[in-house]
Amino acid sequence: MPTGDDMNRYASRTSDTWLANSADNWTGLIDRHCPHRRADMKFGFRETCGLRCCYHGWLFDHTGACVSQPFEETDDVEGRFKDKIRIKAYPVEVKGGLVWAYFGPDPAPLVPNYEPFEWGNGFIQIGFSEIPCNWFQCQENSIDPVHFEWMHSNWAAGKTGDTKSYAPTHLKVDFEEIEHGIVYKRIRADTNEANPLWTVGRNCLRPNSLFTGNYFEWRVPIDDGNTLSVGWFYNPVPQDMRPFK
Ligand code: FES
Ligand SMILES: [Fe+2]
Repeated sequence: MPTGDDMNRYASRTSDTWLANSADNWTGLIDRHCPHRRADMKFGFRETCGLRCCYHGWLFDHTGACVSQPFEETDDVEGRFKDKIRIKAYPVEVKGGLVWAYFGPDPAPLVPNYEPFEWGNGFIQIGFSEIPCNWFQCQENSIDPVHFEWMHSNWAAGKTGDTKSYAPTHLKVDFEEIEHGIVYKRIRADTNEANPLWTVGRNCLRPNSLFTGNYFEWRVPIDDGNTLSVGWFYNPVPQDMRPFK
């Protein structure tokens, strides 16, 4: 699971938050800045039940509750000032090697338990890249079969004028609405209606994902002009190496 600085580069970039791990292994997503004097929680101390601000030592748990204020508790034992203090916190779920955060109103939905997350017997690679355009332009690509022929297959040949090497052209496309999004199908000059590209197709998952069989891609908005692309790739080991851990 990407954690620490790697993961937090994206948490901070997309939402001004900080992904905190406690010493007893909970994961929480909290405001990047302490509600006291706005110190950066990046520099906090990882403790058993939370992340302690490095400036005056206030300690926050993964729900955002302030559970310790060393000086205030000493100065006014009965005051319980900490009960009035919260840092902004968002629910997270760890699944498929990713930390999923939810920023909407309660209740938080469960992260879909997509079957590939449980496959095992293989390797998962997760890649992050920032793309300088709106997330919806990226997601539009999730339902665009024909670009595959030109953008992916014909790129090198087209650049060198080698038109004889062009890939088989698309003859027919179709789209079918399903519970989780839209399936798109294609028939190319080298396939027919018995081919999985037509019988199975590829999935454009609502609201911001593509699933092609062993690969997900989520297009996460950073702002109106920038997107964080999260790719999830499964590579199985050969049959004769299974079971494999
Ligand atoms: S700024 Fe965080 S405890 Fe004071
Ligand atoms: Fe593509």
